[in-house]
Amino acid sequence: RPVLFSGMQPSADSLHLGNYLGALTNWVALQDSYESYYCVVDLHAITVAQDPVALRASVRRTAAQYIAAGIDPEKVTLFVQSQVPAHAELAWILSTITGFGEASRMTQFKDKSAKQGADATTVGLFTYPVLMAADILLYGTELVPVGDDQKQHLELTRDLAGRFNSRFGQTFTIPEAFIGKESARIYDLQEPTSKMSKSAATEAGLVKLLDEPSVTAKKFKSAVTDTEREIRFDRQAKPGISNLLGIHSAISGTSVADLEAAYAGRGYGDLKKELAELVVETLAPIRERALELTNDPAELDRVLAAGAEKADARARATLAEVYDRIGFLPRR
Ligand code: TYM
Repeated sequence: RPVLFSGMQPSADSLHLGNYLGALTNWVALQDSYESYYCVVDLHAITVAQDPVALRASVRRTAAQYIAAGIDPEKVTLFVQSQVPAHAELAWILSTITGFGEASRMTQFKDKSAKQGADATTVGLFTYPVLMAADILLYGTELVPVGDDQKQHLELTRDLAGRFNSRFGQTFTIPEAFIGKESARIYDLQEPTSKMSKSAATEAGLVKLLDEPSVTAKKFKSAVTDTEREIRFDRQAKPGISNLLGIHSAISGTSVADLEAAYAGRGYGDLKKELAELVVETLAPIRERALELTNDPAELDRVLAAGAEKADARARATLAEVYDRIGFLPRR
């Protein structure tokens, strides 16, 4: 089977609907057709300051949400990035073939560092995409299911793989991004022109997998729309309604055109109410299962250790080949 790799940063309290629809549902759908590696990228998370106690809890909670959403750790390799040293090691190698200008053009870095200011921005945040490339390239990955905000990082990964191959000989597989259609970018419910993100301006716009059902429903009912009455998909003119239609379509599998037809002549209140029910119905069992799983941290740690062992074997082999191609002296 071809190899699939993807990862998410552990989030302090919960993954959000963008993570779920943009990535996690595709992970679940693809896990049987690929040899799949799903990673909790804690090395990436520390590119911004983390509290040690909270970080440990977030990593377990994130793994619990993967499993609760349907990732089967018996079928896939589910692991924590820092438990496989080759990720950091390959990242160093790749950083030496990454142009400073090339890395400077990454829009996520530009946006985040502009918000933080130069002194608060770490070098780790700058090299974040290089570590991401290492994650992907260690496993001979062909497919990387992500939201569309990761497209540019995937392009960099492909460029680095090609560059290494042409300089040192065929080593890396060139990976492809897998980006869903309606779910490629989910927007904030209060600010529907900004993508849903854990650094959202208001809690009300951010739908969390671990929110209580009543909280989730309320967030949908108070979602920002517009002053028209027509339920129609138009990102420019009607970002709020378009986002709600996109979320509905991603969950229900009904096309946006069919949703527009079904809601013709009906009010925004109907769409919000029915979508709230649909989302709650989908997320409530995931929330319950995730909370159950986090109640047994020892079992989670065991599952993650087994995953790390499998990932480590594969990653080590790739790294050994890379070291050999570069001309590093082997330790005998
Ligand atoms: P992170 O944690 O920021 O995001 C995790 C995944 O969620 C997707 N996503 C969204 N999709 C749709 N709408 C949104 N509003 C939204 N917000 C987030 C992201 O696109 C991503 O797929 N850098 C990666 C983590 C990573 C990675 C990797 C991914 C590290 N190494 C290797 C793939 C392969 C990231 O953005 O994480």
